[in-house]
Amino acid sequence: MQLPQPRGPLSTRVVAALSGDQDFHDVDLPPLPPSVLDDDDFQLSLWMLYELHYRGFDGLDDHEWSPDAVDLRVRLEAEFESELVRHTAAHLRYALQLGGGLTEQLAALIEALDGPNLAGFLQREATLEQVREFLAQRSLYHLKESDPHAFVLPRIDGRAKVALAELLYDEYGGGRPDRLHARMYADAMDAAGLDSRYGTYVDLVPASTLAVNNLMSLLGLNRRLRGAALGHLAAFESTSAVPCRRIAAGIERVGLPDVVAAYFHEHVEADSVHEQVVIRDICESFLDDEPAQLPDVLFGVAACLYLDRLAAVQMLTEWRRRDQAALPHEAAS
Ligand SMILES: [Fe+2]
Ligand SMILES: [Fe+2]
Repeated sequence: MQLPQPRGPLSTRVVAALSGDQDFHDVDLPPLPPSVLDDDDFQLSLWMLYELHYRGFDGLDDHEWSPDAVDLRVRLEAEFESELVRHTAAHLRYALQLGGGLTEQLAALIEALDGPNLAGFLQREATLEQVREFLAQRSLYHLKESDPHAFVLPRIDGRAKVALAELLYDEYGGGRPDRLHARMYADAMDAAGLDSRYGTYVDLVPASTLAVNNLMSLLGLNRRLRGAALGHLAAFESTSAVPCRRIAAGIERVGLPDVVAAYFHEHVEADSVHEQVVIRDICESFLDDEPAQLPDVLFGVAACLYLDRLAAVQMLTEWRRRDQAALPHEAAS
């Protein structure tokens, strides 16, 4: 993967440090914006630092464990995490007061943090280009699908570990390389005329979607956040099957080849099962072993839903803005 284009002073310095043009030790934090969740410069910088723990960047020195790179990442993720904690605190209190079981608390958070119906828009209204843009932006995650949650496996034990391994086995193709979900997504991109090489579209991805990706890395890479990582997975799998059915219908409506929709059809089936596995076998087993982790699990749920909503709002708002910008031109032609 190539380095992305910088989007401000911080990402300019991170790109320079990754390229070897500047020492990581000399990367100062510029003044941070009031909110880092939708700040392009911040989220892109954090994303680049996290990518050192996945595939890295072509032809550059390996900075994965450079102490100054790790130090910068930790400082950025502290800002990111504390803002997420602030935004989700009231939701967390609400879910904890509800009591009941995790299934009820998860359902309540899904209802409370419900976002705009992006999947419904894709199903009924999106143009071919909007569907392709959606696929390109989502490729940032789906081409490394499940990798962030795989970091959690060595951090847990017992039934939860076995169940997570089972879920990951499914995500990683169940023994068949052609069924690897990331491979299926790449096949869908190829069939949609997109470039399926990992990270190709990062320059098109707005801050809110980078934040969705960064959250998974934050939770996966920090052992103390293992409960939140599992809560995130629960929210992710529980909000996947119905949207995937709608997205598949939208893909078919705009006339893309069957292999594009096949990825989403696969997830209608798979994620209905994964939803049950992740709640009962993974999260509840984990909480049986570590009951004090309940607030963390719910934080992961709420943070996932909060950022998914932000990303959906951003995408629909941007499409509406472009439609409106195109209106005078269309009227004149
Ligand atoms: Fe999957
Ligand atoms: Fe899944």
